[in-house]
Amino acid sequence: MKEQIQKLKKEKNAVILTHYYAPAEAQEVADYVGDSFYLAKIAKKSTADIIVFCGVSFMGESAKILNPDKKVLMPELTADCPMAHMVSPGLIQKMREKYEDLAVVCYINSTAELKCQSDVCVTSSNAIKIVRALPNKNIFFIPDRNLGRYVAEQVPEKNIIINNGYCPIHAAITKRALLELKDKHPSAPILIHPECESELLEIADYIGSTAEIIDYAAKSEQSEFIICTEDGVEYKLEKDNPEKKFYFPSPRPCCGDMKLNTLSSIYSVLKYETNEVHVSEDVRLKAQRPLDRMLELGR
Ligand code: 13P
Ligand code: SF4
Repeated sequence: MKEQIQKLKKEKNAVILTHYYAPAEAQEVADYVGDSFYLAKIAKKSTADIIVFCGVSFMGESAKILNPDKKVLMPELTADCPMAHMVSPGLIQKMREKYEDLAVVCYINSTAELKCQSDVCVTSSNAIKIVRALPNKNIFFIPDRNLGRYVAEQVPEKNIIINNGYCPIHAAITKRALLELKDKHPSAPILIHPECESELLEIADYIGSTAEIIDYAAKSEQSEFIICTEDGVEYKLEKDNPEKKFYFPSPRPCCGDMKLNTLSSIYSVLKYETNEVHVSEDVRLKAQRPLDRMLELGR
């Protein structure tokens, strides 16, 4: 099947973009593997006719918004991120009425409709930089409370109001599980994703996006690490660092939606060109603005 996928990619001038949380088999056949920011940048400058996005729906949608003329296919259209829906549009309106100079900062893990109501998008690897660069004092950070809290701590000069959304996978990791792991491996630093709860971030040695965690582990001279994020990153960590050890909290954080990107579903969408992502032109034009602003400010 892998050979067939490579053949179809050439024939159709297609590229496969895969997030680090997708299964190893989806990372193996990908042309580009990365975190949300990297993949958005790649999607924006792609010259392929077809983009197969192995991720969840907000990623395929963002690729389509940035590339209206390309065919964007998703191996599984039901792969969705629950956090992407965790804001009430009415609340955004209320905040806008309350603060005259409000900037709505929208984590890229959000629906296209929510992006339409936002001033700028961010990802976990550029949120601090972008919020700092905004001229606005008052910020409404949607939808993730944990990334929002982390950014608020790092940018104390802003008044950051935080929406109460969260990633169910990262929020389920407990401090107890992390401390148990630390007890077993006292010299292993804790590398954590900012979608985790703040009491976990407090005991971590390094906080970063998936790509930043992978990069940190590769550059570090230490030989073992506690990895506090979704377990799809294990594939790249082990591939690049066969001599190092990586421990995940128990139960292992696993995003079922990301894992829907199987080899057979990739093959099928590439062959039959099914599961195309559609975004209405009205929504696309409004949602493109905060995404373009992110690409500009995040450079
Ligand atoms: P990053 O890709 O920015 O690390 O975010 C993780 C995530 O949850 C994507 O769904
Ligand atoms: Fe959404 Fe969490 Fe899955 Fe990322 S890991 S796609 S934030 S549910």
